[in-house]
Amino acid sequence: MPPNGQSVHGGGGGLVSPTAAPAPSSKMDCFLTSVCTPLNLQFIDVAYRVKVERTAGPAKEPPGRISHSGGGGGGLGGVSAAVEERTILKGITGEARPGEVLAVLGPSGSGKSTLLSILGGRLAGRYSGTVLTGGRAPCRAVQRRTGFVAQDDILHPHLTVRETLAFCAMLRLPTSAPTSAKLAAADAVIAELGLGACADTIVGNAFVRGVSGGERKRVSIGHELLVNPSLLVLDEPTSGLDSTAASRLVATLSALARKGRTVVLSVHQPSSRVYRAFDSVLLLSEGSCMYYGPGRDAMDYFASVGFAPGFHVNPADFMLDLANALLRRSTAIARRREAASSSRCSRLTPGSSPPR
Ligand SMILES: Nc1ncnc2c1ncn2[C@@H]1O[C@H](COP(=O)(O)OP(=O)(O)O)[C@@H](O)[C@H]1O
Ligand SMILES: [Mg+2]
Repeated sequence: MPPNGQSVHGGGGGLVSPTAAPAPSSKMDCFLTSVCTPLNLQFIDVAYRVKVERTAGPAKEPPGRISHSGGGGGGLGGVSAAVEERTILKGITGEARPGEVLAVLGPSGSGKSTLLSILGGRLAGRYSGTVLTGGRAPCRAVQRRTGFVAQDDILHPHLTVRETLAFCAMLRLPTSAPTSAKLAAADAVIAELGLGACADTIVGNAFVRGVSGGERKRVSIGHELLVNPSLLVLDEPTSGLDSTAASRLVATLSALARKGRTVVLSVHQPSSRVYRAFDSVLLLSEGSCMYYGPGRDAMDYFASVGFAPGFHVNPADFMLDLANALLRRSTAIARRREAASSSRCSRLTPGSSPPR
């Protein structure tokens, strides 16, 4: 039996040749719609810090002098390392409700993957703040009802889509479930994700021609869908897809959410059509939250605080421009601060010649 107590009946056959005749669609629906217990996800003041080793290069020698390493110390060629703490997420608060899609937007390096890893239970005990699932701290049962689709999928290139999902069903569904039920679950996922046309095509990779990028993403999502998750967390599922494929994929995710799942995804640069499918949006910039709320209200919010575009734009483009502008400004300030402090240091270094 698949998880969550759903009974699945359907085509037989073994793993060697998982070409089971598709079960009647009503039975597939039974697997994927009667599904899950709704799971509300709340995250309150979530912060994540890491210790990074900052290697200062060899002490600057005046021009014309060759620096000699070794002998007298200074470690590796005079390179010294200092450990400093870096804050990746700075107190992020929000909620993802069953039946809705929450999109985490932000430029590269803004902390999207880190936040998703925390929400998907991948960084348990390594962050501060609170994550609640169904009003309680996440437990193992919730972990089992969480599907996590990483940005870079690992799929066997020589298996067909059906074989991939059947193999996964054999491994991930309870041993008590009959083989026929597992194969039917794989077929149900193929139908749900619109993979019927490529079910018998090999997955492929950079060297072996296989399914398209969009289909490949769907197979990765299918992997997680097999365990019938209440919470589905996806890191950049649309990256690398053209806008039509991206919009079709997000429509599928929306449909999965409408059946009672909680869907959280990160997305780098969605088209306006994709953006419209998001119920809630969380915009990150350098680990800080710039906006959290309904996707349709974001532009009104930014206009109310003095940031309105001069002409009609894709809200996602505008929000990313704002987040990037903030990033550039804070990087420039940090650079200026660093330059000021290093010039102060060189003035204070004994023996260094005073600045002219
Ligand atoms: N364990 C870690 N150690 C050091 N830096 C990290 C670690 N995890 C994330 N980072 C840094 O945090 C920032 C945010 O990373 P990430 O969450 O992957 O951003 P995004 O997914 O938005 O591109 C990046 O600059 C990344 O290098
Ligand atoms: Mg990322």
